[in-house]
Amino acid sequence: MNHFISVHDVTDIDALVQKALACKADPFKERKLGTDKRIGCLFLNPSMRTRLSTQVAASNLGMEAIVFNVGQEGWALEFEEEAIMSGSTVEHVKDAAPIFGKYFDILAIRTFPSLKNREEDYSELYIKQFMKYAGIPVVSLESATLHPLQSFTDVITITENFKEKRKPKIVLTWAPHVKPLPQCVANSFSQWINAWGAADFVITHPEDYELSTEFTKGATIIQDQDEALKGADFVYVKNWSTYTDYGRIYCNDPEWMLTNEKLQLTNQAKVMHCLPVRRNVELSDEILDGPNSLVTQQAGNRVWAAQAVLSEILKK
Ligand code: CP
Repeated sequence: MNHFISVHDVTDIDALVQKALACKADPFKERKLGTDKRIGCLFLNPSMRTRLSTQVAASNLGMEAIVFNVGQEGWALEFEEEAIMSGSTVEHVKDAAPIFGKYFDILAIRTFPSLKNREEDYSELYIKQFMKYAGIPVVSLESATLHPLQSFTDVITITENFKEKRKPKIVLTWAPHVKPLPQCVANSFSQWINAWGAADFVITHPEDYELSTEFTKGATIIQDQDEALKGADFVYVKNWSTYTDYGRIYCNDPEWMLTNEKLQLTNQAKVMHCLPVRRNVELSDEILDGPNSLVTQQAGNRVWAAQAVLSEILKK
C-alpha cells in the first residue's frame, strides 16, 4: 500500500479486515515495525476519535506520532497552483508539503469540505496537493468527500458482529441534523460496502438527499425508510447535506430519527454511527444507550483500522 485515500488503495478488503483483527488480538506484535519512524498527523479541522486512534495505532507499532493542528496553529496554507498570494494565505502547500516529507515517514491529513462549491470539494484538491508535493505516503484522516479509515472500521465492526453464512442486510439511513454536514461518511461507507460486495446494501434518505452515483452505484435506494429497514441486520445512521443543490438542509423531519419502534421493523439490527452524534436529533437516547448500539465498539475499532493501514504502509 503506497497511500490510503480510498477503498481503491486496498487490494483485498477481507484480508485487511483480518489484519486489523489480528492487531486487535495482539496489539504489540509488530511494535518493532515502526522503530525510528515518525508519522505527522495534520489537522485542518477538529477531531477526537481519528486523532487519538491514529496516535494509539502508531504507538502500538513503535512509531512516534506528531500532531500538528494546522488549522489553528499553522500558517494559512494556499492550495491553488499559480495563486497570487496577496490574500489571507501565507504559505503554499508546494513549499510546506516537501518539508513535512523531510520530517516524517508517513503524512496523515484531515481536511473538510467547504460545502460551498461542489466541484471544488469533489476535486479533493487539498489531499491531492499533499500527495503531489510531500514525496512520502499519505493517509487520509478524512478528506472533502471520503472518510476511508472510518469506513474500514465499519467493515471490521460488521465482520465482528455477523457470523451467519448468508449476506447481511445493511441499511444506511439519513438522519436529521441542525447543521449542514459533509457527505464524506455516507459516500465512503457506500463506496466500501459496494466494493466489499459481501452484503445486501440499501440506502434510504428523503427526497433531495441523493448522493453521488459514483459511490452509491450497486446499492438499492429506497425513499421509504420503514420499507428500507425491514429485515435489516445493521442500520448505519448518518446525516448528510444535499449533494445536487450542494451543501443545504432541505429536510429536518424528526420522523427520520431512528427509535426503538422503528427498530422493530428490522432483524434486531445492530445500530452504527461514526460519532460525534447529536443525541435525540440524529439518534435517540434509547438506541444509543440500548443493547443494539455498536457505536462504542465501532469507535474502539478505529485503532485497529489505523494500525492495519500503517503496518501495510510501513512494510511497503
Ligand atoms: N468519526 C470521527 O471521525 O470522529 P472524530 O471527528 O472525532 O475524529
